[in-house]
Amino acid sequence: MNALEVGPIRTNERVSADMYRLVAELPRLAQTTRPGQFLHVRTARGWDPLLRRPFSPSRVDRENGLVEMVYRVVGRGTELMTHMRAGDEIDVLGPRGTTFTLDGKMLMVGGGVGIAPILFAAQQAAAETATVIIGGRSREELFWQDYFPDTIHDLLLTTDDGSVGHHGYAVDLVPALLASGEFDRVLCCGPTILMSKVAAAAYAAGVPCEVSFERRMGCGTGGCYACVCDRKDGTHAKVCQEGPVFDTIPVGVIVEASLGPDSAQ
Ligand code: FES
Repeated sequence: MNALEVGPIRTNERVSADMYRLVAELPRLAQTTRPGQFLHVRTARGWDPLLRRPFSPSRVDRENGLVEMVYRVVGRGTELMTHMRAGDEIDVLGPRGTTFTLDGKMLMVGGGVGIAPILFAAQQAAAETATVIIGGRSREELFWQDYFPDTIHDLLLTTDDGSVGHHGYAVDLVPALLASGEFDRVLCCGPTILMSKVAAAAYAAGVPCEVSFERRMGCGTGGCYACVCDRKDGTHAKVCQEGPVFDTIPVGVIVEASLGPDSAQ
């Protein structure tokens, strides 16, 4: 679906050194967007920059028609977005792309800004079905922990500097958890290296795994090839059309080196 919705921003606040949380009144998108899908957002008024930026929503409030996006400032588009104020209108196309499968007992793994779709999946999962691992460089990057609902089974934290939770990476916890045999499915979003290692651990444990790719996009509708990535089997995929959520088992783990920069917003 690629319909346009325009609505007022409720809040656009800084939540860490380089990340912001934007909430907008978008009732149609709040009803129709599913975890893993992306929204294609015009980040400033007018036509400069011309290209929209893709964002995975981090939560929706269907009752009140609200959509939340947490974004990292990584370029001109997202820098301009930080200047949007409450009451300004935001122009959004979507929802687009494939969705996470919410089914059975799930191990959800998120790193960096990739925690956004994991939070949305955890919000929408049935009670007690989601165990979540989130990782960041430091305690400050794990502001997300306050956003997760009480309905999840468990929330595990990791930091590169050891300031909170496990000292190390989110993937470190995955093999032992999967060895318990408790999980039916793994969902992951974050840096390419994280998704690659989590997918490999899931494959070794024989557990289905879905990863959600963050890619620089142009058209967002399959026409420009800006988002193409290579699969391990030599075939190619348009992330905006065939993704952003991919099942890693049938296609093999996607070749890490071919993916380019992460979080290219
Ligand atoms: Fe244009 Fe995917 S963004 S083909």
